[in-house]
Amino acid sequence: MKLSRGLGASLITAVLIIGGCASVWHPSIPPVAGPAVFPPEQVARGAELAALGDCAVCHTTDGSRPYASGRGVPTPFGVVYATNITPDPKTGIGAWSEPAFRRAMREGVDREGRNLYPVLPYPHFTRATDQDIAALYAFLMTRPALHSDAPPNRLPFPLNQRFVLKGWNLLYLRPGPWQPDPAHDADWNRGAYLVEAVGHCGGCHTPRNALGAENGGQTLAGGEAESWYAPPLQAASPAPQAWTVDSLAAYLRTGFDANHGAAAGPMTAVTAELATVPAADVRAMAVYLASMMPKPAPAPVVAHGGDDPVFAGACGGCHGQDATMTRNGAPSLALSTAVNAPTPRGVIQVILRGLPWREGQAAPYMPSFATALTDAQVADLAAYLRSTYSDKPAWNDLPAEVAKVRGAS
Ligand code: HEC
Ligand code: HEC
Ligand code: HEC
Repeated sequence: MKLSRGLGASLITAVLIIGGCASVWHPSIPPVAGPAVFPPEQVARGAELAALGDCAVCHTTDGSRPYASGRGVPTPFGVVYATNITPDPKTGIGAWSEPAFRRAMREGVDREGRNLYPVLPYPHFTRATDQDIAALYAFLMTRPALHSDAPPNRLPFPLNQRFVLKGWNLLYLRPGPWQPDPAHDADWNRGAYLVEAVGHCGGCHTPRNALGAENGGQTLAGGEAESWYAPPLQAASPAPQAWTVDSLAAYLRTGFDANHGAAAGPMTAVTAELATVPAADVRAMAVYLASMMPKPAPAPVVAHGGDDPVFAGACGGCHGQDATMTRNGAPSLALSTAVNAPTPRGVIQVILRGLPWREGQAAPYMPSFATALTDAQVADLAAYLRSTYSDKPAWNDLPAEVAKVRGAS
């Protein structure tokens, strides 16, 4: 948060007052008894939509207990725990009717009428069609019912008071399904729908204001996720080699593209989910995103012929000194968006955390250097990569940024 504490606090107070004054009252929706039966095609589409919407990324912590939750999602305000969305009637959503589920997706209100935190990306899910919401419901209600309570959220007063969210919703929530744009073809519209609604890509790739709302005027202009930098996916994309429909589709489905490198950090789980959805859905998203990205131009090859002993020793085995050289299938660092981004976050994160080994997948691997390198060495390496593999101006405050990223682990 770049905002001064005073200003942040007065904004929060303002929202609290609005929330208090707002006479938005949501009734409890009566419980339903017993499991309903759904057509198998509807459940199958629900499974694909759940993957597109990353429901499991937040709602599963233990793979053997899918959707039974427990993950604490970090936000600049505190930690909100994803709840149990299996059909367990006590601790999950077993007593929820489809209208109750739809209200949660569209308005961020639970069955009993309590407001939900927008960590559940309902400002995006509200754009989903009734049909897709019904399919998600059918999928979740046919999962095994598991008993599990989420831990209590860790939020300061007044944010731990759910009614504050009524004010937040009045200010920032525009409920209702996505409206197709007749100026574009069906593929583009399908992609726009998936990106903006269920895919909620803006949840990380759109900058947020002081109260955590996505900045409407700056859709996909670059945001933050768990102290990683989520680069712009529109005209401001810093990718040295412009993205195309093909490269986007490859990256989104495999987590890797030969001209851009690998998905790291929170994007790894997103691409792992997208690997399981129909290729046509991912391609439609690629069509939509590519239409907003800069048009491809001849590839820049930036190499100032650097020479750094730490880089040569720790990194040189995989990343060649010469920008055009590649090892282990990794493209030149000159093509890395992280190296060419306005913030050093991505580079620092990838040096400290690496790219985790993924069992049974041919995904690229890079070790974590969190224990091998000191903060000063990480800062020096980031400065070296920037000056050697990018034409962009040097980053400021590298040591402070390294300390910040390390502290966020
Ligand atoms: C970025 C993390 C995240 C993702 C992705 C996510 N959720 Fe959630 N969800 C949460 C959190 C956190 C809560 C709890 C919010 C609260 O306590 O106010 C929640 C709550 C819910 C609830 C309310 C449950 C209750 O008992 O009140 C439902 C229903 C739900 N999510 C469904 C989904 C579905 C369906 C998807 C995928 C299409 C999904 N969520 C994706 C984080 C997430
Ligand atoms: C949980 C947060 C999160 C969500 C949700 C998310 N992303 Fe990302 N995304 C990131 C981060 C962080 C990076 C940077 C990864 C890196 O440095 O390798 C990234 C990188 C990317 C890139 C590479 C950009 C570049 O120039 O290198 C693309 C393309 C992308 N995301 C597309 C999407 C799409 C499409 C969606 C929605 C289906 C999506 N992302 C949802 C966090 C997220
Ligand atoms: C075992 C091989 C290996 C070693 C050692 C290694 N890397 Fe990597 N690195 C990779 C692979 C594979 C990728 C993924 C391909 C890509 O994104 O370019 C990668 C990606 C990167 C990226 C791009 C990340 C992004 O999201 O754009 C940076 C920056 C990076 N490495 C820096 C370093 C630095 C600095 C060191 C030394 C401290 C290092 N690497 C050591 C294999 C390695």
